[in-house]
Amino acid sequence: MRIDILTCVPNLLDSFFAHSILKRAQQANHVEVVVHDIRDYSTNKHRTIDDYAFGGGAGMVLQIEPIARCIRALQGEREYDEIIYLTPDGEQMQQRMVNQLSLKGNLMMLCGHYKGVDQRVRDLFVTKEISIGDYVLSGGELAAAVLSDAIIRLIPGVLNDETSALTDSFQDNLLAPPVYSRPADFEGHQVPEILMSGHEAKIEEWRYEQSLKRTKERRPDLLQ
Ligand code: ADE
Repeated sequence: MRIDILTCVPNLLDSFFAHSILKRAQQANHVEVVVHDIRDYSTNKHRTIDDYAFGGGAGMVLQIEPIARCIRALQGEREYDEIIYLTPDGEQMQQRMVNQLSLKGNLMMLCGHYKGVDQRVRDLFVTKEISIGDYVLSGGELAAAVLSDAIIRLIPGVLNDETSALTDSFQDNLLAPPVYSRPADFEGHQVPEILMSGHEAKIEEWRYEQSLKRTKERRPDLLQ
Protein backbone atom coordinates (compact mmCIF):
# COMPACT_ATOMS: atom_id res chain seq x y z
CA MET A 1 0.00 0.00 0.00
CA ARG A 2 1.04 3.58 -0.61
CA ILE A 3 -0.36 6.59 1.27
CA ASP A 4 0.35 10.12 0.01
CA ILE A 5 -0.50 12.88 2.48
CA LEU A 6 -0.89 16.47 1.27
CA THR A 7 -0.38 19.10 3.96
CA CYS A 8 0.94 22.59 4.50
CA VAL A 9 2.68 21.50 7.74
CA PRO A 10 4.63 18.37 6.75
CA ASN A 11 6.79 18.49 9.87
CA LEU A 12 3.74 17.75 12.00
CA LEU A 13 3.55 14.29 10.44
CA ASP A 14 7.20 13.35 10.02
CA SER A 15 7.86 12.15 13.54
CA PHE A 16 4.53 10.37 13.79
CA PHE A 17 5.46 7.99 11.00
CA ALA A 18 9.08 7.57 12.15
CA HIS A 19 8.41 5.42 15.21
CA SER A 20 7.17 2.10 16.46
CA ILE A 21 4.75 0.00 14.38
CA LEU A 22 4.42 2.58 11.60
CA LYS A 23 8.19 2.80 11.21
CA ARG A 24 8.54 -1.00 11.07
CA ALA A 25 5.65 -1.31 8.61
CA GLN A 26 7.48 1.02 6.23
CA GLN A 27 10.87 -0.62 6.73
CA ALA A 28 9.32 -4.00 5.92
CA ASN A 29 7.72 -2.49 2.78
CA HIS A 30 4.18 -3.19 3.89
CA VAL A 31 3.40 0.47 3.29
CA GLU A 32 5.02 3.55 1.84
CA VAL A 33 3.94 6.85 3.39
CA VAL A 34 4.93 9.98 1.47
CA VAL A 35 4.21 13.41 2.92
CA HIS A 36 3.94 16.30 0.44
CA ASP A 37 4.22 20.00 1.27
CA ILE A 38 1.46 21.81 -0.64
CA ARG A 39 3.66 24.92 -0.56
CA ASP A 40 6.05 23.19 -2.98
CA TYR A 41 3.27 23.53 -5.55
CA SER A 42 2.75 27.25 -5.07
CA THR A 43 3.90 29.35 -8.00
CA ASN A 44 4.43 32.62 -6.19
CA LYS A 45 7.70 33.64 -4.59
CA HIS A 46 6.29 33.79 -1.06
CA ARG A 47 4.99 30.23 -1.45
CA THR A 48 1.53 31.27 -0.30
CA ILE A 49 -1.26 28.75 -0.68
CA ASP A 50 -4.18 30.49 1.05
CA ASP A 51 -6.30 33.56 0.41
CA TYR A 52 -9.35 35.39 1.75
CA ALA A 53 -12.77 33.81 1.29
CA PHE A 54 -14.93 35.28 -1.45
CA GLY A 55 -17.96 36.89 0.15
CA GLY A 56 -15.99 37.86 3.25
CA GLY A 57 -15.86 36.36 6.72
CA ALA A 58 -13.05 35.44 9.06
CA GLY A 59 -10.42 32.87 8.15
CA MET A 60 -8.32 31.98 5.15
CA VAL A 61 -9.08 29.33 2.55
CA LEU A 62 -6.60 26.90 0.99
CA GLN A 63 -6.57 27.71 -2.71
CA ILE A 64 -7.33 25.19 -5.40
CA GLU A 65 -4.38 25.78 -7.73
CA PRO A 66 -1.44 24.43 -5.66
CA ILE A 67 -3.56 21.52 -4.44
CA ALA A 68 -4.70 20.69 -7.97
CA ARG A 69 -1.09 20.77 -9.19
CA CYS A 70 0.01 18.43 -6.42
CA ILE A 71 -2.87 15.99 -6.92
CA ARG A 72 -2.41 15.94 -10.71
CA ALA A 73 1.34 15.37 -10.40
CA LEU A 74 0.66 12.34 -8.19
CA GLN A 75 -2.14 11.07 -10.43
CA GLY A 76 0.34 11.21 -13.32
CA GLU A 77 2.46 8.63 -11.50
CA ARG A 78 -0.18 6.13 -10.33
CA GLU A 79 -3.89 5.59 -9.96
CA TYR A 80 -5.48 6.32 -6.61
CA ASP A 81 -8.27 4.21 -5.13
CA GLU A 82 -9.47 7.11 -3.00
CA ILE A 83 -8.63 10.77 -2.56
CA ILE A 84 -9.67 11.43 1.02
CA TYR A 85 -10.29 14.86 2.50
CA LEU A 86 -10.12 14.98 6.31
CA THR A 87 -12.82 17.32 7.52
CA PRO A 88 -15.17 17.59 10.50
CA ASP A 89 -18.16 17.55 8.12
CA GLY A 90 -17.14 14.23 6.55
CA GLU A 91 -18.49 10.74 7.22
CA GLN A 92 -17.56 9.68 10.72
CA MET A 93 -14.63 7.25 10.84
CA GLN A 94 -15.59 3.73 11.93
CA GLN A 95 -13.68 0.46 12.13
CA ARG A 96 -15.76 -0.92 9.23
CA MET A 97 -14.58 1.94 7.01
CA VAL A 98 -10.97 1.42 8.13
CA ASN A 99 -11.17 -2.31 7.31
CA GLN A 100 -12.29 -1.48 3.77
CA LEU A 101 -9.58 1.14 3.25
CA SER A 102 -6.89 -1.28 4.46
CA LEU A 103 -7.61 -3.42 1.37
CA LYS A 104 -6.79 -0.59 -1.07
CA GLY A 105 -3.55 -0.07 -2.97
CA ASN A 106 -3.00 3.69 -3.23
CA LEU A 107 -4.61 6.30 -1.01
CA MET A 108 -4.24 10.05 -1.05
CA MET A 109 -5.14 12.10 2.03
CA LEU A 110 -5.63 15.85 1.92
CA CYS A 111 -5.34 17.83 5.16
CA GLY A 112 -7.33 21.03 5.47
CA HIS A 113 -6.24 24.07 7.44
CA TYR A 114 -7.63 27.46 8.37
CA LYS A 115 -11.24 27.61 7.10
CA GLY A 116 -10.68 24.58 4.89
CA VAL A 117 -10.08 24.08 1.18
CA ASP A 118 -11.82 25.77 -1.74
CA GLN A 119 -15.03 23.79 -2.32
CA ARG A 120 -13.97 23.08 -5.90
CA VAL A 121 -11.13 20.86 -4.63
CA ARG A 122 -13.78 18.73 -2.96
CA ASP A 123 -16.06 18.78 -5.98
CA LEU A 124 -13.38 18.00 -8.57
CA PHE A 125 -10.87 15.74 -6.89
CA VAL A 126 -11.98 14.33 -3.55
CA THR A 127 -13.69 10.91 -3.60
CA LYS A 128 -14.25 10.43 0.14
CA GLU A 129 -14.60 12.85 3.08
CA ILE A 130 -13.83 11.57 6.56
CA SER A 131 -14.21 13.06 10.04
CA ILE A 132 -12.49 11.44 13.02
CA GLY A 133 -15.11 12.76 15.45
CA ASP A 134 -17.47 15.55 16.36
CA TYR A 135 -14.90 18.14 17.36
CA VAL A 136 -12.84 20.61 15.36
CA LEU A 137 -9.05 20.26 15.13
CA SER A 138 -6.86 23.08 13.92
CA GLY A 139 -5.93 21.05 10.85
CA GLY A 140 -6.46 17.70 9.19
CA GLU A 141 -2.97 16.36 10.00
CA LEU A 142 -3.87 14.66 13.26
CA ALA A 143 -6.92 13.17 11.56
CA ALA A 144 -4.76 11.85 8.68
CA ALA A 145 -2.36 10.38 11.24
CA VAL A 146 -5.22 8.70 13.11
CA LEU A 147 -6.70 7.29 9.90
CA SER A 148 -3.33 6.10 8.55
CA ASP A 149 -2.43 4.41 11.82
CA ALA A 150 -5.75 2.58 11.98
CA ILE A 151 -5.35 1.42 8.35
CA ILE A 152 -1.68 0.43 8.44
CA ARG A 153 -1.95 -1.81 11.50
CA LEU A 154 -4.53 -3.91 9.61
CA ILE A 155 -2.24 -4.65 6.65
CA PRO A 156 -1.32 -8.37 6.85
CA GLY A 157 2.14 -8.80 8.34
CA VAL A 158 2.28 -5.42 10.05
CA LEU A 159 1.30 -6.72 13.47
CA ASN A 160 3.50 -9.50 14.82
CA ASP A 161 0.56 -11.54 16.01
CA GLU A 162 -1.74 -11.52 13.00
CA THR A 163 -4.74 -12.46 15.06
CA SER A 164 -4.37 -9.53 17.37
CA ALA A 165 -6.11 -7.03 15.06
CA LEU A 166 -9.08 -9.40 14.93
CA THR A 167 -9.61 -9.16 18.66
CA ASP A 168 -9.52 -5.35 18.74
CA SER A 169 -12.41 -3.41 20.13
CA PHE A 170 -15.07 -2.76 17.46
CA GLN A 171 -14.01 -5.60 15.11
CA ASP A 172 -17.22 -7.45 16.01
CA ASN A 173 -19.07 -4.48 17.49
CA LEU A 174 -17.77 -5.46 20.94
CA LEU A 175 -15.25 -3.65 23.09
CA ALA A 176 -12.09 -5.63 23.88
CA PRO A 177 -11.93 -7.54 27.21
CA PRO A 178 -9.50 -6.55 29.98
CA VAL A 179 -5.92 -7.84 29.68
CA TYR A 180 -3.36 -8.64 32.38
CA SER A 181 0.35 -9.41 32.54
CA ARG A 182 2.89 -10.24 35.24
CA PRO A 183 2.95 -10.03 38.21
CA ALA A 184 -0.05 -12.21 39.03
CA ASP A 185 -0.33 -10.37 42.34
CA PHE A 186 0.24 -6.62 42.53
CA GLU A 187 -0.02 -5.41 46.13
CA GLY A 188 -2.80 -7.89 46.76
CA HIS A 189 -4.65 -7.20 43.49
CA GLN A 190 -4.93 -10.54 41.70
CA VAL A 191 -5.21 -11.45 38.06
CA PRO A 192 -8.48 -13.35 37.43
CA GLU A 193 -7.71 -17.01 38.11
CA ILE A 194 -9.31 -18.29 34.93
CA LEU A 195 -6.61 -16.57 32.85
CA MET A 196 -3.95 -18.69 34.53
CA SER A 197 -5.89 -21.94 34.29
CA GLY A 198 -4.52 -22.84 30.85
CA HIS A 199 -8.05 -23.85 29.84
CA GLU A 200 -8.34 -22.22 26.42
CA ALA A 201 -12.06 -22.70 25.83
CA LYS A 202 -12.96 -21.39 29.27
CA ILE A 203 -10.66 -18.39 28.79
CA GLU A 204 -12.31 -17.59 25.44
CA GLU A 205 -15.72 -17.81 27.07
CA TRP A 206 -14.61 -15.52 29.94
CA ARG A 207 -13.20 -12.99 27.47
CA TYR A 208 -16.39 -12.98 25.46
CA GLU A 209 -18.48 -12.42 28.61
CA GLN A 210 -16.20 -9.60 29.70
CA SER A 211 -16.44 -8.00 26.24
CA LEU A 212 -20.20 -8.19 26.36
CA LYS A 213 -20.33 -6.77 29.91
CA ARG A 214 -18.05 -3.87 28.99
CA THR A 215 -19.98 -3.11 25.84
CA LYS A 216 -23.32 -3.14 27.72
CA GLU A 217 -21.92 -0.80 30.36
CA ARG A 218 -19.95 1.59 28.20
CA ARG A 219 -21.33 1.45 24.66
CA PRO A 220 -24.82 -0.06 24.67
CA ASP A 221 -25.36 1.65 21.29
CA LEU A 222 -22.99 -0.89 19.68
CA LEU A 223 -25.31 -3.76 20.60
CA GLN A 224 -28.42 -2.29 18.97
N1 ADE B 1 -10.04 18.62 10.53
C1 ADE B 1 -10.42 19.39 11.57
N2 ADE B 1 -11.17 18.71 12.43
C2 ADE B 1 -11.30 17.44 11.93
C3 ADE B 1 -11.98 16.27 12.34
N3 ADE B 1 -12.70 16.22 13.47
N4 ADE B 1 -11.89 15.18 11.57
C4 ADE B 1 -11.19 15.22 10.41
N5 ADE B 1 -10.53 16.29 9.97
C5 ADE B 1 -10.58 17.40 10.71
